[in-house]
Amino acid sequence: MNVQFEGHTSIGKDEWLTPPYITDALGEFDLDPCSPINRPWETARKHYTIEDDGLTQPWIGRCWCNPPYGNETKKWLAKCVEHGNCIALIFARTETKMFFNHIWNSADALLFIKGRLKFCHVNGEQGGSAGAPSVLVAYGKANADVLEKCDIEGKFIRLK
Ligand SMILES: C[S@@+](CC[C@H](N)C(=O)[O-])C[C@H]1O[C@@H](n2cnc3c(N)ncnc32)[C@H](O)[C@@H]1O
Repeated sequence: MNVQFEGHTSIGKDEWLTPPYITDALGEFDLDPCSPINRPWETARKHYTIEDDGLTQPWIGRCWCNPPYGNETKKWLAKCVEHGNCIALIFARTETKMFFNHIWNSADALLFIKGRLKFCHVNGEQGGSAGAPSVLVAYGKANADVLEKCDIEGKFIRLK
C-alpha cells in the first residue's frame, strides 16, 4: 500500500525515519540533532531529541539532518547553513522560498534521489513510498564530495 504523508501521520507527527541504507552510504556522522526518543538504530555518534530541542543545542562535527517536516524544516536548514558541516535530507520542493533561501543560494551540492524513498516507522518497519521525491543536501565541500562518490542512485549537482 502506498502511503502519502506530510508530517502528521497515524503513528505520530514527524516520526518518519531515514532508511538506514541512505545513512550507511554516507559515512559516519558525529551528530543527529533531530532524532526520535526511541529509535530502532543509531544515525550518528550522538543524538538530540525533542526533549533536548536540537535547535538550541550546540551542533558539533559532521551532522546528519532529516528534519521535522512542514514549517519547522526551514529552521533546521538555517542551522545547517550556519553550521556548514551537514548532510540534510528533505523533499525536493525546488520552487519554494525555503529551497531558495537555504539550499540553492547556500548549499554546496545536491543529490536528487531516483524514485521515491520508503521511510521507516519508529519500530523499524518500512513504510510506503513517500508522497514526494527527496534530495540530499550537502553543506561543506567534504560532504559534497561524499554525495558525488556515494552509491545512492540519483542525479548529483554541485552548486559551489
Ligand atoms: C523526520 S524525523 C527523522 C529522524 C532521524 N533524524 C532520521 O534521520 O531517521 C525528525 C525527527 O525530529 C524529531 N524532533 C522534532 N522536533 C525536535 C526538536 N526540537 N529537537 C530534536 N528533535 C526533534 C522528531 O521526534 C523526529 O524523530
